Formats: sequence, structure tokens, C-alpha cells
Amino acid sequence: MINNNIKFKSNNNILEEDLKHIYSSVDCLNKLNNKTILITGCAGFLGFYFLQFLLLYSKKLRIKKIIGLDNFIINEPNWIKTLENKYSNLFFLSQFDIADDDLTNIPSIGEVNLVIHCASIASPTFYRKYPLETIDANVWGLRKLLDLFKNSKKLDGFLFFSSSEIYGDPESSKIPTDEDYPGNVLCSGPRACYDESKRFGETLCWVYSQKYDMPITIARPFNNFGPGMNINDKRLPADLAKCIVDNKDIIIYSNGAPTRTFCYISDAISGYLACLLYGKYDYFNIGSDSQEISVIEFAKIFENYGKILFKYSGKIKFEDSKDADYMTNNPNRRCPNITKAKTLLNYHPQISIESGVKQYLTFIKQEGK
Ligand SMILES: NC(=O)c1ccc[n+]([C@@H]2O[C@H](COP(=O)([O-])OP(=O)(O)OC[C@H]3O[C@@H](n4cnc5c(N)ncnc54)[C@H](O)[C@@H]3O)[C@@H](O)[C@H]2O)c1
Repeated sequence: MINNNIKFKSNNNILEEDLKHIYSSVDCLNKLNNKTILITGCAGFLGFYFLQFLLLYSKKLRIKKIIGLDNFIINEPNWIKTLENKYSNLFFLSQFDIADDDLTNIPSIGEVNLVIHCASIASPTFYRKYPLETIDANVWGLRKLLDLFKNSKKLDGFLFFSSSEIYGDPESSKIPTDEDYPGNVLCSGPRACYDESKRFGETLCWVYSQKYDMPITIARPFNNFGPGMNINDKRLPADLAKCIVDNKDIIIYSNGAPTRTFCYISDAISGYLACLLYGKYDYFNIGSDSQEISVIEFAKIFENYGKILFKYSGKIKFEDSKDADYMTNNPNRRCPNITKAKTLLNYHPQISIESGVKQYLTFIKQEGK
């Protein structure tokens, strides 16, 4: 039986519950024992949960060291300084561009056992603003990491964050989409810098795993949401949360019909840790397969919990976006087949969209935003 008695100094009980959920959901966490972990893009949404979890549970899991790198291209969040100060003997943060800066300048880089390569802008609004930087992080940044660690005897796991976007807009017979679907993707257009750099990143992972026998595992996330996603991030869950907090109308810039599954962050992080610790080459869809809902249905769930938690009084409205590229090549449906992750990683997401939205909004309320 796992002992789960971790005391939180923070009074945010949502985070506390989520980290406990992660701890009890992943059955191979003992593999973190005495490991040095490198996290690129550690100041982003997923980085927030990785760091909160790995630092809070560091003693229990006997983690040796965590090296965090981020160039803060969009935002330098306050929470990361707080973690750096609180865990100054364990967590070493550097402002660092994974595509441009020299990894050998990072102290203890040769000691790294586990790499989590999160660095890449994930929000469509911002990757369209920074298309070359997005390509650089997913291609050149990844290649620099692979070159540095290709002959390492210490490397036990290397997690590359790909995306469900590598599937493009699958035909309806390919939904739910399994890992062997080759994709229906455009190599030009406003989303291509992201989709195609993730695809090429996956190709690099394949080549290095074959040539150097590297333990690279690829995660293909399907729409995560929850605490840690900055409400100014411009992804759909963030936009909806911001409307609730600001008590503004929710404006939907499509007919609201495109459907998605949404995976709550603690379920997703459990899947990513299982990928990281898998220790050999493979690729996995990580997301939720249980509720494929439309954008309008998702918005209504935010509206409902907004009323309860924030006395929200806004309305849901439809408008054309002023941004001509906003909907270009936006997939109509997105739903993963996660049988492979269930079978090989023992990954079983449990949190419903309704519970996740409630958790996200409650977290924001508790943080006073
Ligand atoms: N969150 C999701 O639902 C989702 C879905 C699909 C894929 N992903 C992938 O997962 C990874 C993490 O996603 P996220 O939601 O945390 O993204 P995010 O945009 O919130 O965070 C990414 C972080 O990477 C940093 N970064 C970007 N370029 C960098 C560079 N050149 N050098 C160093 N740091 C850099 C940014 O400053 C940011 O802090 C990304 O690779 C993303 O593409 C996430």
C-alpha cells in the first residue's frame, strides 16, 4: 500500500488532491529513485505540474536533482521563483533557449538520467506569432538534446512531447484515432509550424532510438486542461476560464460544433510519467477517451461552474473571429484511442470533464485570480 501522507504548506487543496492522485496512479515511480531529471520548458502548463509533483514528492521518491530550463518566451511565472527558492538544494533553474544556448554550460548536465522535453510553444495563438521559434524548439532543440545524450550510459528515459496535432484532421472512420494512423496533415498553412515540427521531432526520435539505442518515448497529448494553464494562454480552456473570472460573455469563434476530448491535468501527468519511465522506444496517445464533446458543450460546463463558484452572469455568444487564420485547418473532431497506453503503461484516466472544470475554476478561485 502506498503511503500518501504528504503535508502541504500551500492551502490550495486542489493541487494537493491532484498530486496525490498522480502519486497513486503511476505504479513505477520507484524508478525515480536517485535520479537527476532535466525538464525543458519547465515554466509552462505541464511544467507547473511536473515540478509541483516531483519537488513535493522528492523526498519520498528519493529524487536526486531537478534541472529546469526555460527561455520564458511568453511568460515568466511567479510560481517558478517560489519553487526555486523553496527547493534551492534540489531544483536548479536556468533561463535557457534549448535551440540556441549551449547545454554543456548547465552544471550537472552529464549526470542526467531522465529528460522531459516540454519546450515548445503549445498555444495556437502564440505559435502562429512565433512559428520559427516553435520549429526551433521541436527540431533543433530536440536534436541538441539527442546529440548530447546519445552516448550517455546514465540515460534511463527520454520523453518527447509530440501532439495529437500530428494526426491533422482525421477522416471520421479514423476516430477514435489510434497511434498507427499516419495523419492527414498540411505541410503549409498557419498550423504547419507546429504540426510538422512535431512530426519531424518524432522522426528524429525514431532515428536516434534506432541508431543509438536510446530509451526515447513519445507522448502525443490530447487537449489537457486544468490548474497551471495560465488564463491568458489563449487556449480554449484558458479563454473560457478567463471569461468566468472577468465575468465577461463567452464568445465562440466557430459554430461551436467541433468536438474534442479534454483530459484533466493530473490524469495527463500520470500518463506522461508512465511514458517517461517506460524506458524504451515507443509512442503513446495520452488523453481521455471517454467524453467527446463539442466546444459549445464544453463552454456550458464552464458557464455552469462559473455560476456556482464565481456568480458568473455572462452569456455564451457566437461571432466571427477578427483573426482570419483562427479556424484555418482546425480539426473537426479529436478523440484518441488509448488502448495502447492502457495496456502497456497501465494508464487509466479517471477524471470527468465536469470534475476537471470544477477543479480548475476552484483552483483559480483559491489562488485569488
Ligand atoms: N498542454 C496540452 O494540451 C498539449 C497538447 C499537445 C502537445 N503538448 C506539448 O507538450 C509540451 C508542453 O506543453 P505545455 O502545455 O506545457 O506548453 P506551454 O506553452 O504552456 O509551455 C511550454 C514552455 O516551453 C518554453 N519554451 C518554448 N520554447 C523554448 C525554447 N526554445 N527553449 C526553452 N524553453 C522554451 C516556454 O517558455 C513555455 O514555458 C509542448 O511541447 C506542447 O507542444 C501539450
